[in-house]
Amino acid sequence: MPVNSRLPGFYKLSPRDRLAEVTRASGLTETDLACLVPSDPDMLATADRMIENVVGTLSIPVGIAANFTIGGRDYLIPMATEEPSVVAAASNMASVARLHGGFHVSTDLPIMVSQVQVVGVPDPRGARMRLYEAEAEILALANEQDPLLVKLGGGARGIEVRIVEADGATYVVLHLQVDVRDAMGANAVNTMAEALAPRIAEIAGGRVRLRILTNKADRRLARVRAVFDRDALGGADVVAGIVDAYRFAAADPYRAATHNKGIMNGITAVVLATGNDTRAVEAGAHCHAAASGRYSSLSHYEVNADGHLVGTLEVPMAVGLVGGATKTHPAARAGVKLLGVTSAQELAQVIVAVGLAQNVGALRALAAEGIQKGHMSLHARNVAAAAGAIGDEIEAVVSRLKTGGHVRLDRAEIILAELRAATP
Ligand code: MEV
Repeated sequence: MPVNSRLPGFYKLSPRDRLAEVTRASGLTETDLACLVPSDPDMLATADRMIENVVGTLSIPVGIAANFTIGGRDYLIPMATEEPSVVAAASNMASVARLHGGFHVSTDLPIMVSQVQVVGVPDPRGARMRLYEAEAEILALANEQDPLLVKLGGGARGIEVRIVEADGATYVVLHLQVDVRDAMGANAVNTMAEALAPRIAEIAGGRVRLRILTNKADRRLARVRAVFDRDALGGADVVAGIVDAYRFAAADPYRAATHNKGIMNGITAVVLATGNDTRAVEAGAHCHAAASGRYSSLSHYEVNADGHLVGTLEVPMAVGLVGGATKTHPAARAGVKLLGVTSAQELAQVIVAVGLAQNVGALRALAAEGIQKGHMSLHARNVAAAAGAIGDEIEAVVSRLKTGGHVRLDRAEIILAELRAATP
């Protein structure tokens, strides 16, 4: 039946009534959509407070990455991802790094930046200087917006004024740099930017347009370094293969996108498991990958004097422990509690360590046996289940799928039918 997407008053309904309305409007049955309703009614109420037009929730597997020593401390790391092999690869590479002391980390202060765009300024260079002259006033005005942040040791720290030439127009762009402490910080800096706008327009002698944070959070970098044992990786040739893979990514944006995707497999999984903003971190990371003017690898690999692989990674990491889903979503709260991190900077360090482990895990597999072998074991289980296998049938179908070499739904269905026919 054709769907009518006009749903007047839909937003005012309860989640259950909305689901009934969607079921009716889509022509689906209640059973088709029943899996969207969480078993815990409190979860539905929480979801309804988090976003609009809620009808249910979506469960993503959470796996625990093991073996991580980061900054001299052990962590059990929750990773939320739908992709097989990701958690296993991170855990394996963490055990390889562990042989040489684990992951060594550092972070910048948690500085977020908001941008205020001023248009129609007759003397942009003069305006830039007038804004710098008024820096103390601007910072004081910004800090008035968030006395709690200031009390916690954060607050506006400085400004930068840029002149951006764009398609014939000239914009004066003020960057407000704010120490957001343990927040991701978007709300804090956006509120400040909006409050400052009239005064900035006055000083600059133009009109303010945008007032919004930048996700290029390059004043909030998290860094990690680890030594991966040559023999545990599989020997000198595997190490050389990883270095070749890295050089390929460093030189070629097509390969760099995939290489960095592997890093984000780890990063995004922890960002999501802790209720942080995955898109903000992704945007910051990919922008950082192009910081030289050409999109390249986020990570770097070298071989040390003893023949072991040295991996390093630096990524903007706008994550927090207070505010947003980190505090409101029970699974995110549980994830943060399990990690036991006490600051946003510590969380950022854990995340970037997982990113490096993930990256070296993917490169090791690519340089050695190829990625499909590990991937296919779990994928085969999914395919067996999708074909309708249950209980012991799943392993039986998986084993025959893998023997045949082609892990496909049509083969799984045939194998399952044969197994059932042969079972008395
Ligand atoms: C797959 O999700 C990630 C990889 O493609 C990463 C890479 O190629 O480096 C395996």
